[in-house]
Amino acid sequence: MKTLLLTRRFPDATIAAAQALFDVTIRDRTDGLSVEDAATALQSFDAILCTLGDRFSDMAFAVPDKRCGMIGSFGVGFNHIDVAAAQAAGIHVSNTPDVLTDATADLAMTLILMTARRAGEGERLVRSGGWDGWHPTQMLGTHVTGKRIGIIGMGRIGQAVARRAHFGFGMKVIYFNRSPKDVDFPARQVDDLHGLMSQADIVVVTVPGGGANTHLVDAAALGQMTDGAVFVNIARGDVVDEAAMIAELARGRISAGLDVYDKEPMVPDALKVLENVVLLPHLGSAALETREAMGQMALDNIVAWAEGRPLPQALWTV
Ligand code: GLV
Repeated sequence: MKTLLLTRRFPDATIAAAQALFDVTIRDRTDGLSVEDAATALQSFDAILCTLGDRFSDMAFAVPDKRCGMIGSFGVGFNHIDVAAAQAAGIHVSNTPDVLTDATADLAMTLILMTARRAGEGERLVRSGGWDGWHPTQMLGTHVTGKRIGIIGMGRIGQAVARRAHFGFGMKVIYFNRSPKDVDFPARQVDDLHGLMSQADIVVVTVPGGGANTHLVDAAALGQMTDGAVFVNIARGDVVDEAAMIAELARGRISAGLDVYDKEPMVPDALKVLENVVLLPHLGSAALETREAMGQMALDNIVAWAEGRPLPQALWTV
């Protein structure tokens, strides 16, 4: 039986399915593997079921005497794995696209609504005992229905957000993406990011993290947003210059809904003290059915590797 490391406590269904097929070791911790621990895991197990926060960098793959032939990553984003280094080492890698698209798009809508309608602030008010009753001008937010939404990155999740915004909320959709997208609802591509930022009432970031997308949304881009606009990030923290975003939010001109942070789980105090920002703990795919489907997809890939078949969700192919 091949040995399999689970780098976290995954859903019970995932653990049970893994244990039926592999000799499983569970690392029962909530933090990610350090580069050193990732290297040791590569030396110690035939396969690894890992997730975001596990640092499979080029340094980890440089370790000698690797035993591992397969890394199944639980999650769609894979900026925690140096896929080129994995390929050079002959280690197969997979991710879990599609199964989390709806859950993540739903969370984008949650953040749009919470931010525009000041739901986090309102909840804090009620819990604090400070609510003195309904009155006509209390905590007025921004109307969402019919507004213009700007999507940065029109991939699977971007399209799912746009579809919800168009069909559910009657929004006009504009997007910034390398290539045009053929979608079944009205959506206008904008050639430059600044153009998108300046035209949208609501901006949602859905591009993958890392590489050329690092700090794609910088101070100049944020400065283009119109007064009262809402900025939402459900992708990766490094896509946005966090310090510049905090400075822009502190001016009080825009508000933000964030599910991701540059140095997760560290969230800067300067963000936590602001009322015009909704802060969630990376909940994008956090629904039980979704997480079980992600676990199954990751395992299906590991099984395909164990049986010598091509991976259904391979991140590199020969
Ligand atoms: C979560 O952020 C994921 O990439 O699946």
